Amino acid sequence: MSSSPRPPVAGPLPPATPAGPGGAPVRDPRSLDHLTARYHRYAELVGAELRAWLSFHLPRPGRSGSVAGAGRALDAGCGTGAHTTLLADRFTEVLAVDISGPMVDYARGRRPRGNVRYEVRDLRSVTPSMDGLFDAIVCAHTLHYVGDVARALWRLRSVVRPGGTVLLVDVVDERGSPSRAWLRRQAWTRFVEDIHRHRRPVRQAAELLRLSLDCDWLDHESTDRLLMPGDWHAVVRAVFPGATLATFDRAHALSWTAPRAEAGCPDSATRTGARTAGAGPAEGRQ
Ligand SMILES: C[S@@+](CC[C@H](N)C(=O)[O-])C[C@H]1O[C@@H](n2cnc3c(N)ncnc32)[C@H](O)[C@@H]1O
Repeated sequence: MSSSPRPPVAGPLPPATPAGPGGAPVRDPRSLDHLTARYHRYAELVGAELRAWLSFHLPRPGRSGSVAGAGRALDAGCGTGAHTTLLADRFTEVLAVDISGPMVDYARGRRPRGNVRYEVRDLRSVTPSMDGLFDAIVCAHTLHYVGDVARALWRLRSVVRPGGTVLLVDVVDERGSPSRAWLRRQAWTRFVEDIHRHRRPVRQAAELLRLSLDCDWLDHESTDRLLMPGDWHAVVRAVFPGATLATFDRAHALSWTAPRAEAGCPDSATRTGARTAGAGPAEGRQ
């Protein structure tokens, strides 16, 4: 088990939306508030591989729509709920948080589930004392929005139950912020490959190209501040030692099983009384 020191608890959070002259909200291109429907469709079109990876690492869902078993799961930065439903099929209780009101409204409207509580919250506000511990935590394509990634990751780690699973994925890119020209080229390259390799129906390939070239979308994507691969590896190694890493195109993914007992982690130790050192992930380690 790692002996890395635990960082201080996250302090006050910055406002989600800055105010312009007269207090009017300013449209922040980094926010997805005005892109909910487009994001939802984009994620549907490109998300199959990630959904398969998450499904592989999560427990099997229950038969005929029933929940598989007990347990609690957290979707940290749930967006329009693309992965919340995977968790809802597998756990009795799901907390899905996102800092964006419009994203959460969209998820509640499109993906309502009796066992899911959607909340407009910063993922860094989820704490063991307020929210308890979770058997599975999913955080997809969200970390690069959060200023201090290490602090956010330590916070997520603090709410995973001993023996629980953490599944993270985010786009990592040595360019930091990709240019609009590069994003356009990439959209066209993907379109051509989709058609040549019959990767998806022509109508869907064209729809994906149109979404990717949308001006608001390009504004958003070109203002992303992505982690560099070296920084990603350093931070995930520090917080989740022994994790299994995978890549999907530009996205880097991590799966990690929390040790059965964490030395110096009062939250998990006191809640479970567990004292035995636990196993790491079953697959190859980084
Ligand atoms: C690209 S979307 C990903 C949504 C979803 N996880 C998915 O994979 O489809 C990123 C989401 O992170 C949310 N977000 C950004 N910073 C956040 C924070 N500090 N706490 C919670 N959510 C955050 C955004 O509002 C947005 O909905």
